[in-house]
Amino acid sequence: MDTLRSPVISDAEETLDPIDWSNVRALSHRMIDDSIEYLRDVRLRPVWQEMPAGVKATFREPLPRFPMPLDDVYREVKENLMPFPMGNIHPRFWSWYMGSSNLTGALGDFLAAIQGSNLGGGNHAAASMDSQVVNWCKEMMGFPSSASGSLVSGGSMANLIALTVARNVKAGVDVREDGVGAIEKPLRFYASDQVHSCHRKAIEALGLGNKALRRIHSDADLRIDVAALRAAIAEDRAAGCQPACVIATAGTVNTGAIDDLEALANLAVEEALWLHVDGCIGALLAISSANAYRVSGIARAYSVALDPHKWLHAPFEVGCVLIRDAAAHRGAFAVTQEYLESTSRGLASAEWLHEYGLQTTRGFRSLKVWMALKEHGVEKFGRLIDQNMAQAHYLSRLIKEAPLFELVAPTSINIVCFRYRPLGLETAALKALNIEIMLRLQEEGIAAVSDTTVHGEHCLRVAINNHRTRREDLDMLVAEILRLGALLTAGC
Ligand SMILES: Cc1ncc(COP(=O)(O)O)c(C=O)c1O
Repeated sequence: MDTLRSPVISDAEETLDPIDWSNVRALSHRMIDDSIEYLRDVRLRPVWQEMPAGVKATFREPLPRFPMPLDDVYREVKENLMPFPMGNIHPRFWSWYMGSSNLTGALGDFLAAIQGSNLGGGNHAAASMDSQVVNWCKEMMGFPSSASGSLVSGGSMANLIALTVARNVKAGVDVREDGVGAIEKPLRFYASDQVHSCHRKAIEALGLGNKALRRIHSDADLRIDVAALRAAIAEDRAAGCQPACVIATAGTVNTGAIDDLEALANLAVEEALWLHVDGCIGALLAISSANAYRVSGIARAYSVALDPHKWLHAPFEVGCVLIRDAAAHRGAFAVTQEYLESTSRGLASAEWLHEYGLQTTRGFRSLKVWMALKEHGVEKFGRLIDQNMAQAHYLSRLIKEAPLFELVAPTSINIVCFRYRPLGLETAALKALNIEIMLRLQEEGIAAVSDTTVHGEHCLRVAINNHRTRREDLDMLVAEILRLGALLTAGC
């Protein structure tokens, strides 16, 4: 052996484990104590605040080359990171559409990282728990136990997985082998004009092109117009296209509108189409005893995307896709490689979970969902959904009753679209005023709301997906908008 070329074996081999476990134990306890206070006092902090220039500069520091004590590393996190969050765990965060997380879920994420399993699959407890949480999602949606599913990064990925299966099943050719170029007639997918942007990204990524996703106009309640959908399908068939899939939305991102799922399920049967439900916002209404009827028909879908990091408030990220036909699901992704073969005993003697999606290594996402569901029980999550809906209708009433406010869309679930409307302002000035109110609410740390355009009208948008919101927060929102509105129209 060439001794000059043999690796140098030092006496002190290195590891990332701490040299002094008792030191790190004390610091870890402090991190947990700080975290609990951080969460307990969230209401006392601003919803959002701008980072000072000095803090921003720290994020441009170059790659660290030399060690730093963990105490100092943590001090930087405490000073530069923790005070400047996005804000979605705050009781007055209602922008876009997020969940507000929970302590148990955060502890679950910590324990998942400590246990460290790779959820690509295998015969171990984390993989069994992953499958159990998917089974619980099936149960919540009323899906049969024979269906398959996968925990993914969020709703966008859940929709992409489902649309991939739908494309492959409806293509009429072996898309995996021959590619989309082999499809004889151009495939057509249908959704309302309120469909979330992730579907466009998915359709484009699937090689079908944006034109393959036909947006069907929505009615006065912003639900897909089923008659217009029928007409579009007939038109496409006549033009030599292949209608493949209807994407129903259970809870649109603009206003929370829920398409008529029963009507779409009937239409899908009649037209032999795949029915996918994007339930990222509303699918979990199925666990609310008072509001489950709003998503009646969801169990008839071929696939559903739902988002535990929204109305189950799991810390980001976790979405879930369910596919009724498990063989079609596996058939869209499974690739058996010699280095990933199953065995009859031991670690590889269980199903490979990576065969149901795009990732090979998968994070241990299920523990945070599992722990919170075990702790509270599913019925409590159903009640929290009802609570958010009651709060949204409460805000709607406040808006209707207050002078100088206008509701811009019907409030169906937990999203309220409205604007501050003093007399005599034309459209552009009204939009500028409402945007300025929104920015001042953020900059003063009062509340985070976002904006959108519904039926051509610009409006502010409050999406209450938050287990910490109280009605008094909504009273405050209305009072603060009135204050800011008066201030701004007075030219301040
Ligand atoms: C209706 C709808 N679909 C899909 C998504 C995308 O979900 P995610 O942000 O979890 O990827 C969202 C996000 O808010 C949504 O509202």
